[in-house]
Amino acid sequence: MVDDVFTSPDDVAERLAAVRYLTDTATATTVYLAAALEKPLLVEGPAGVGKTQLAKAVAEATGAELIRLQCYEGLDEARALYEWNYKKQLLRIQAASPDTAWEQTHDDIFTDEFLLTRPLLTAIRRSEPTVLLIDEADKTDVEVEALLLEVLSDFQVTIPELGTVSAVRRPFVVVTSNATRELSEALKRRCLYLHLDYPTPEREREIVLAQVPELAPALAEQLVRTAATLRTLELKKSPSVAESIDWARTLLALGLSDLDEAAIAQTLGVVLKHNSDHARASAELRLPAR
Ligand SMILES: Nc1ncnc2c1ncn2[C@@H]1O[C@H](COP(=O)(O)OP(=O)(O)OP(=O)(O)O)[C@@H](O)[C@H]1O
Ligand SMILES: [Mg+2]
Repeated sequence: MVDDVFTSPDDVAERLAAVRYLTDTATATTVYLAAALEKPLLVEGPAGVGKTQLAKAVAEATGAELIRLQCYEGLDEARALYEWNYKKQLLRIQAASPDTAWEQTHDDIFTDEFLLTRPLLTAIRRSEPTVLLIDEADKTDVEVEALLLEVLSDFQVTIPELGTVSAVRRPFVVVTSNATRELSEALKRRCLYLHLDYPTPEREREIVLAQVPELAPALAEQLVRTAATLRTLELKKSPSVAESIDWARTLLALGLSDLDEAAIAQTLGVVLKHNSDHARASAELRLPAR
């Protein structure tokens, strides 16, 4: 687990805030429990609400190394767990003297020296504090979940030629998902669950000001209120925290000091990325034509 284990949910909140990640009580408590119970943490929620950043912040706050497995369609064992270095094995076979018994060569080439470790195995074998981020797990095929299960429930990996590799020290595991598909019950059962949603305007204001300290607090206030209003509209893609932060940087760059209708109309492309969303927001907020 992480080196410097958290002592309480408040301790989690304080130490994450120190690395500019602001949590609410539910998030801090779940992170605390995941660390204390040594259970993987499954974080689900819409895009851009800070799921990936949570894992990064925990790593930074605890001085652990972050090891990331980015999931995608077609991800397989060779990319997630380990792979044998065939080229090197072939060279060894060619270099072996002709009278070496095949059993001997076979034993030689299935050793650690010929193993290419991928994120899951790397994380399991580390003796230093580690945060293992399994990012966007819903993007993989169901078969990959089976691979994850062994790692997440027993913190071990079985390599047929080598045997079972058990964790020297359990990593703090964060699995994120946008819920584009349901993850299996088996996977969920092994994890603690946290649903991250858009923050309240008060918290989002703090987040924006933590990331963009140069922004005037009153402008930050206007910004998060507008973002909250936009999220009530039925948009294809609601603005996320990431977009609010971009918006703040944009206002600074343009030297705008008031987020009035004209300013919103001018900068809407930073927050809304679909033409139909623009049209809807412009109509609902009665923005002047650009
Ligand atoms: N609670 C928070 N405190 C500080 N920054 C935050 C917080 N939540 C989100 N952010 C900021 O929002 C940005 C987006 O967060 P992140 O990339 O973690 O989103 P995500 O939920 O992983 O999105 P996606 O589903 O698209 O991967 C980050 O750059 C981060 O700085
Ligand atoms: Mg992410």
